[in-house]
Amino acid sequence: MYYNQLNIKSDKLFDYLLNLPHDNLPWIEHFGFDGFDVDLSWVDKDAGLAALHNLYPLKRLGLLRIPPNSIYDWHKDEYRLSTVNMLIKHDHSHSLFAKSRDNYYINITELSYKPYTYYLFNNQEYHSVINFSKPRYLFSLYFDKELDYTSLKELLHPILL
Ligand SMILES: [Fe+2]
Repeated sequence: MYYNQLNIKSDKLFDYLLNLPHDNLPWIEHFGFDGFDVDLSWVDKDAGLAALHNLYPLKRLGLLRIPPNSIYDWHKDEYRLSTVNMLIKHDHSHSLFAKSRDNYYINITELSYKPYTYYLFNNQEYHSVINFSKPRYLFSLYFDKELDYTSLKELLHPILL
């Protein structure tokens, strides 16, 4: 209900994004993130991304950076129903989903990103990122047409773990 791992890894994009000169990119503000647009031609060059794009087309790719010693506050995305994410580089961070339990507690579920691995992500559940002492770099994207997580999960079934 929160996320699903894709069964096709990134074979080229991960290393490209990891080895970019992160301190010297032309970052642009994007919903509180530093954002860097990644060329859409990557949909043909990376195995995992190509499989995804062939099942449900993508329109925008990007690298998102959040600063050290920060929490990106609990939210549901304003303009995105779902996405696919891949964690590129961090030191110590936690990506969490949440649902209220009672007056005192919130149930949390962590998405523990594995390297070279894409995850279908439900942006319409409450989520947050806790980031410790180094900048955190996440690959993310927009689908060409927004689609809810449940429908997308059915559509992407052949490439979900
Ligand atoms: Fe979000």
